[in-house]
Amino acid sequence: MQEATLSARRGAPSSEEDDGRDESKTKKPSRLAVNVSPYLGPFVASAPCLAITLPLLILLALAVAILSRSRSGILVSPLDTLPRVPLLLGSSLEGLASDFGSLGVPLCRSKHGKIVEWTSKDLLKGLEEFVPIYETRPIKNNMYGMGFDHSFGLWFMARWLKPDLMIESGAFKGHSTWILRQAMPKTRIISLSPRHPEKYLRKGPAYVDANCTYFAGKDFVDFGSVDWASVLKKHGIMDPSRVLVFFDDHQNELKRVKQALKAGFHNLIFEDNYDTGTGDHYSLRQICDQFYISGGGHSCFKDSDEARIRMKRKKFWEKAVDIEELCGQGEAWWGVRGYMRDDFNHSNKPISYEEHIQNSRFIESVLDIYWELPPVAGPSLTHQTRYDPARAPNPIIEDGKFGLFRRLGLTRFEASVFNGYTQMVFLQLSASATR
Ligand SMILES: C[S@@+](CC[C@H](N)C(=O)[O-])C[C@H]1O[C@@H](n2cnc3c(N)ncnc32)[C@H](O)[C@@H]1O
Ligand SMILES: *[C@@H]1O[C@H](CO)[C@@H](O)[C@H](O)[C@H]1NC(C)=O
Ligand SMILES: *[C@@H]1O[C@H](CO)[C@@H](O)[C@H](O)[C@H]1NC(C)=O
Repeated sequence: MQEATLSARRGAPSSEEDDGRDESKTKKPSRLAVNVSPYLGPFVASAPCLAITLPLLILLALAVAILSRSRSGILVSPLDTLPRVPLLLGSSLEGLASDFGSLGVPLCRSKHGKIVEWTSKDLLKGLEEFVPIYETRPIKNNMYGMGFDHSFGLWFMARWLKPDLMIESGAFKGHSTWILRQAMPKTRIISLSPRHPEKYLRKGPAYVDANCTYFAGKDFVDFGSVDWASVLKKHGIMDPSRVLVFFDDHQNELKRVKQALKAGFHNLIFEDNYDTGTGDHYSLRQICDQFYISGGGHSCFKDSDEARIRMKRKKFWEKAVDIEELCGQGEAWWGVRGYMRDDFNHSNKPISYEEHIQNSRFIESVLDIYWELPPVAGPSLTHQTRYDPARAPNPIIEDGKFGLFRRLGLTRFEASVFNGYTQMVFLQLSASATR
């Protein structure tokens, strides 16, 4: 599935016309009915005394529904509770429910265990504020670009960090530029993208910012080739640690971290932080996926527990990865089957396991904070069927909290906006590492 979508993108030339679209985010979500059956199916198959158990479980689900209703003070129709039935079932069925993090969530270790200042309460408060903002977005159909989860994450972090300057690499139609602008109405933006967002205006909605310096079109320069010292000076920025850099350009993230270090930038956000075995560029998630990290390191042994669980999950979550997909020649599982991809997979090269370890050691040595944005809400609420919750941190709004989901206004969005979650990550590099 993913192979097909990625290779479709590879076909596009990297010319002016190449919008570098992220086709991993294009799939239409399946409907509720489709969503429910994967949970029910295996249960039905494995429960001989279904006639007794099912009514019992429905009763239980109803009780939960009534309880959450009275708490939220919002009436939910019986249909609303439907997806929760299978989820309740699922929690007892290993590997099948949306049990967040059950396959482990690898992360990059920071030197001193520093963590972000914001809490889950702050995120929830932020969501409440962000929903009405997202509703006014100029680009309603941002296929190939960011969806709701990452839009929220970018907005939240930009607003929290209050940088003196925001740099964006990979603009597409300008949705993320618009998000940055909503977070910081008066702050200068620098946007780098081979194709100027104004080009998209001919075909439909796009966003061009009035207070943004574009290195785009004929003025395009890759982030790694910009003379940042002089550009920052021109923009009156004395302290590069007060700059926020946002990457959504599908380039090798190890390369980007090194380039950012050289320029003295400390605060980085990567939009596409693909999991091991997936994606079109070497990501931080991939780099830090090591045996000594929880959820890290993998075995290509076909009879392992991991193999068994992964195989099952593959049936229910489109982007879940089974062992066959995870492992390449010589049992190489790191990166993507032992390859370090770059530039939308236009380039890739095999790396040895030793190199892979070295890469994570390097990242750890320059890292103060690694923080992955959690998904906004559980799949019974968003109806997403793409990313596998087993490899994701707990969502901001947990499965079952429909009242909260609705109260925040999240039911007003089309399900497709929840389809693009790929572990957006915030990195803070340590001051001693830069320069
Ligand atoms: C997934 S899209 C970005 C989506 C956008 N951030 C949004 O919010 O919708 C990736 C973008 O990166 C651009 N791109 C390709 N190579 C690039 C490079 N070397 N530097 C910056 N952008 C690049 C592509 O042209 C494309 O516009
Ligand atoms: C990525 O590139 C490699 C080498 O060109 C190719 O073999 C592979 O099929 C590509 N993968 C995808 C998903 O496009
Ligand atoms: C544009 O950005 C500068 C900072 O670079 C700020 O001082 C100015 O108020 C902004 N202008 C507008 C119209 O927002």
